[in-house]
Amino acid sequence: MSSDATDLGRGLSRRRFLFGGAAVGAGAAVALGVDRALPPSRAAELDAAGLNGARTVAFHGAHQCGIDTPIAAHATYLGLGLRDGVDREDLARMMRVLTDDAERLMAGEGALADTEPELATVPAALTVTFGFGPQLVRRAAGSSAVPAWLGPLPAFGIDALEEQWSGGDLLIVVSSDDAVTVAHAVRMLLKDSRSFASLAWRQDGFRRAYGSEVSGTTMRNLFGQVDGTTNPEPGTAEFDQVVWATGSGDTAWLTGGTSLVLRRIRMNLDTWDEVDPTARSFAVGRRIADGAPLTGSRESDPPDFEATTAAGNTVISPVAHIARSRPVDSREVIFRRGYNYDVAPSGEGVSETGLLFASFQADVDAQFTPIQRRLDQADLLNTWTTPIGSAVFAIPPGCAPGGFVGDTLLA
Ligand code: HEM
Repeated sequence: MSSDATDLGRGLSRRRFLFGGAAVGAGAAVALGVDRALPPSRAAELDAAGLNGARTVAFHGAHQCGIDTPIAAHATYLGLGLRDGVDREDLARMMRVLTDDAERLMAGEGALADTEPELATVPAALTVTFGFGPQLVRRAAGSSAVPAWLGPLPAFGIDALEEQWSGGDLLIVVSSDDAVTVAHAVRMLLKDSRSFASLAWRQDGFRRAYGSEVSGTTMRNLFGQVDGTTNPEPGTAEFDQVVWATGSGDTAWLTGGTSLVLRRIRMNLDTWDEVDPTARSFAVGRRIADGAPLTGSRESDPPDFEATTAAGNTVISPVAHIARSRPVDSREVIFRRGYNYDVAPSGEGVSETGLLFASFQADVDAQFTPIQRRLDQADLLNTWTTPIGSAVFAIPPGCAPGGFVGDTLLA
């Protein structure tokens, strides 16, 4: 990841680098690793008004964007199925085209043959991230290139999986602080992939709008819980260790990449409504009000799982969500990057709401699955949550200028 992207990770605006101080103009943009500058008039116009729309994220680098870059307000996950007969050469062609689209759109330019290039001029920190399912990797390079963990997760008792949210050969994740930008990028990317693949599912997620809260505030999910407190910090050695994969032999292509587990988890707000704040906090092991552990007073306080009440019970229940999900050792840590979803209910319900639970980790089997297994066995939160979709993707590394995402597998 380039140094300016790391700075973005620390919450600094790339705009400051591009347009503030001495770093002005196309030369500065190149020096800072920006692949293509925004059309100057449009960028200057947005920047002069102090608008978030001008922010861009670097496309090229050792890792793909959208993983350790700051999380945007909107994300659309697209799961595609490869068409019959699409072979290795086709896949390389497809990824070249999609890479070119992503690069241009992220820089605030229209894609090639963009039918609405005007919509591309407000990137608002647009990122496009690609992932590969097992069938794509097999068609590209044979079964030996498929990492052992790339496939459906084991069946869990809590699952009520629906085909319409599960599996997929190609993943495209589009995220931005502006929903119009997302809609446009999604359409361009789908148009350019349609001779190779068709859309199997689409999942839209959202968090607070950029600027609504102080940058770095942990998100609240639609249960009202502070969600994402204990998570590796991008830019740290722990994060690198947890997230970036190292392949070898036939899976060497994945080095610098990672894996994504995407679970669509329904949250039953109707029954959650019946629970008071004390019981809500007990279920998680953290206070609903501020996310502090039940044994502490601030969100950042480490939970004390040994502390007991006067009656001799642990303050944090052994079946509270954080007691069950916390990793047993450092090899089990995952990086969570979730979004809320809220769609039209079917039938009489008031809402159909949940979490697009997304976690990145170097190895699904070693990191994600043991945690999910424990939650399957016991977790108070299971009373109100049901996984209804599940997909696992290999996220290839980033690419250099002139390359394309997936070139380590397909070139
Ligand atoms: C709708 C489903 C879920 C909800 C509402 C939820 C909510 C939460 C909340 C409120 C916390 C405490 C604050 C924090 O550290 O983020 C938390 C922690 C955590 N959750 Fe979940 N979660 C869900 C599903 C899952 C799943 C499926 C996994 C993994 C299989 C998971 C893994 C974790 C981990 C690793 C932590 C941090 C534990 C620690 O070290 O303290 N969660 N979750």
